[in-house]
Amino acid sequence: MKAITLLGSTGSIGTQTLDIVAQYPDQFRVVGLAAGNNVEMLAQQIRAFRPSIAAICAPEKLPILQDAIKDLDYKPILLAGEAGIIEVAGYGDSSSVVTGIVGCAGLLPTIAAIKAGKNIALANKETLIAGGPVVLPLIKEYGVKLLPADSEHSAIFQCLQGVPTGGLRKIILTASGGAFRDWAVEDLRNVTVADALKHPNWSMGRKITVDSATLMNKGLEVIEAHYLFGMDYDNIEIVIHPQSIIHSLIELQDTSVLAQLGWADMRLPLLYAMSYPERIHTDWERLDLVKAGNLTFREPNHQKYPCMNLAYAAGRAGGSMPAVLNAANEQAVALFLDEKIKFLDIPRCIEMTCARHTSDNCSNPSLEDIIGADKWARQQVIAETSQLETRPQFISLR
Ligand SMILES: NC(=O)c1ccc[n+]([C@@H]2O[C@H](COP(=O)([O-])OP(=O)(O)OC[C@H]3O[C@@H](n4cnc5c(N)ncnc54)[C@H](OP(=O)(O)O)[C@@H]3O)[C@@H](O)[C@H]2O)c1
Repeated sequence: MKAITLLGSTGSIGTQTLDIVAQYPDQFRVVGLAAGNNVEMLAQQIRAFRPSIAAICAPEKLPILQDAIKDLDYKPILLAGEAGIIEVAGYGDSSSVVTGIVGCAGLLPTIAAIKAGKNIALANKETLIAGGPVVLPLIKEYGVKLLPADSEHSAIFQCLQGVPTGGLRKIILTASGGAFRDWAVEDLRNVTVADALKHPNWSMGRKITVDSATLMNKGLEVIEAHYLFGMDYDNIEIVIHPQSIIHSLIELQDTSVLAQLGWADMRLPLLYAMSYPERIHTDWERLDLVKAGNLTFREPNHQKYPCMNLAYAAGRAGGSMPAVLNAANEQAVALFLDEKIKFLDIPRCIEMTCARHTSDNCSNPSLEDIIGADKWARQQVIAETSQLETRPQFISLR
């Protein structure tokens, strides 16, 4: 039986991870749970999964949580705030921590888990993108595993099993194309938040669904693949595959191509990251190729989706630039979801923020540098967008 801790337990990744635990109680037990705001759901999860420790990020919700579980026949440790989440991440005998927090808020808890000697089942890609230069050396130093739970990176990781060192030539990331894959470029000027949140294949949290619509999600995954698999950017490609059946591919030195296939169901990559290197028998719907039907592919349109090139450029610049790209994107997406900026303003905010960071890019950033760059980029986006009405490049988009 594997003991796991789950960060972001109330989100899409979190609830799917707990579905797996509920379905296979003889394989997994939960040591710790951490959530942001959703105190009602966290209380229900504590009742159902009986962790030793749990934390809610919003400090004002702690008394509500304490009250909601006061009749339980055991007393879990209950904490609040960022410090509480960090405590949960490193607590107890869990061997792996599933990181389902959205955004760079996952960085310090992930570092705490690594320092406590726990393997990381990584869904929270923003942490690696912003903190790669700090996280990767820590993974080495503490001798823990960084196991991808993102479906594309899980596919690559699965394909790589048995490939000798030096055998990998290229990584090919598949992309569904997001909410606007069949929209004309001109129509993107008028998209609403509701339009951007209609993902054709996957049901996910709001931020990643918008990232899928801008294709920044794929750009972030390019940087994630670079850090996870040590592949240089020239050898990481993106192909649009609208059916989301092939979750990604690798090309080997001899031109052989390996792919991992499955229905669009995040439980599969999560299960593999939680059970690695074992393969657990499940009764989930088996892939039926005839039912899946045609598998099609097309080139990504970089003009329609500038975020992909912004991510490649930030990844190639390295240092603190990916942290700036990520934070600018997080802030811009939050402003879009609050209807403060338009959909097409998102890449513009990111581009301007990254451009301003060019002369300050720190090639070998410390954790403090990364946190500083993240904070600066968010403020920069807010400052830029507060002047939207006077900026011709934004007005032209409205
Ligand atoms: N969903 C997917 O299928 C999928 C696929 C691949 C990768 N990912 C990655 O997985 C991560 C999570 O995505 P998601 O779709 O599950 O997002 P989500 O549904 O929005 O869930 C986010 C989770 O993070 C929690 N949270 C937010 N801020 C927090 C903080 N400061 N401290 C502690 N917890 C906090 C939320 O808590 P409350 O809800 O309680 O506020 C919630 O539990 C993202 O990095 C995403 O890119 C997701």
